[in-house]
Amino acid sequence: MTDLRIQKIVSFDLPGLQPYATMRRPLEHEGQGIFVAEGTKVVRRLLESRFTVVSVVLPEKWLEDFRPLLEARPENLNVYLADKKLLEQLIGFSMYQGVLAVGKIPAPDALDGVLQNSPKPLLLAAVDGLTSAENLGALVRNCVAFGVQALIVGETSSSPFLRRAVRNSMGAIFQLPVIELAKLGQRHQFTTKPHTTKLTLVECLKELRGHRGDCCIVFGSEGQGISPEVLAACDEAVAIPMPPAVDSLNVGAAAAVFLYEASRQRRTF
Ligand SMILES: C[S@@+](CC[C@H](N)C(=O)[O-])C[C@H]1O[C@@H](n2cnc3c(N)ncnc32)[C@H](O)[C@@H]1O
Repeated sequence: MTDLRIQKIVSFDLPGLQPYATMRRPLEHEGQGIFVAEGTKVVRRLLESRFTVVSVVLPEKWLEDFRPLLEARPENLNVYLADKKLLEQLIGFSMYQGVLAVGKIPAPDALDGVLQNSPKPLLLAAVDGLTSAENLGALVRNCVAFGVQALIVGETSSSPFLRRAVRNSMGAIFQLPVIELAKLGQRHQFTTKPHTTKLTLVECLKELRGHRGDCCIVFGSEGQGISPEVLAACDEAVAIPMPPAVDSLNVGAAAAVFLYEASRQRRTF
């Protein structure tokens, strides 16, 4: 049984509270290989997942509700009790529910492993230059909803483990294998983060093109769309037809349309 270390927050000096005090600086968290989950649903889903959980902060009134999930965890957990007002003082902004948790970003899934171990035909998604954490989160949620087996996060995209991405995914990120490619400029042996892979998106797509019957749908950035190099590495460019008055859809909405149709063709639900 897990060793729950429950303590009421009386001071913000505890080192374990550092990730909560720096919630406005999510890139620091990414560098440390951790992420923050917010809200009762997302925190519950994190506690039900196979991810490593570092700590949980919640108002005392929620403790008994969460206790079965906390006690079922394999790791020793720090559980901090704080009412919402105190917590808002710590994190520096107001919150809806006052339930937060810190988890560890897992090691990336390897492209080879996904290719070998997933049922065929494969349905993969990739993002090229997607910078909005909210859009990434919505796209991750759609990937899980429509049976995508893994998401390739290109080297020019934000991390799907940014706080707002985790929140917008509603915890779907805990169920989706992610192949996160190391950002350009972080490919050196000493700077590559342990949760990223040193291939580029173009290299991944070239490798995937040899796999007949499998499919990887690539989504482009909010401003520029798919870069010319990545587009050149794809077999086809496909557009959702729209009237001339609308130039494009939000990328999360476009992902819902494409992935619904791909999963319908595969009859995965
Ligand atoms: C906001 S759009 C990018 C618009 C950008 N100005 C362009 O010309 O590509 C972001 C991404 O959503 C997807 N998308 C949006 N509308 C689409 C449509 N009608 N057909 C196919 N993909 C679409 C594409 O992957 C696109 O790169």
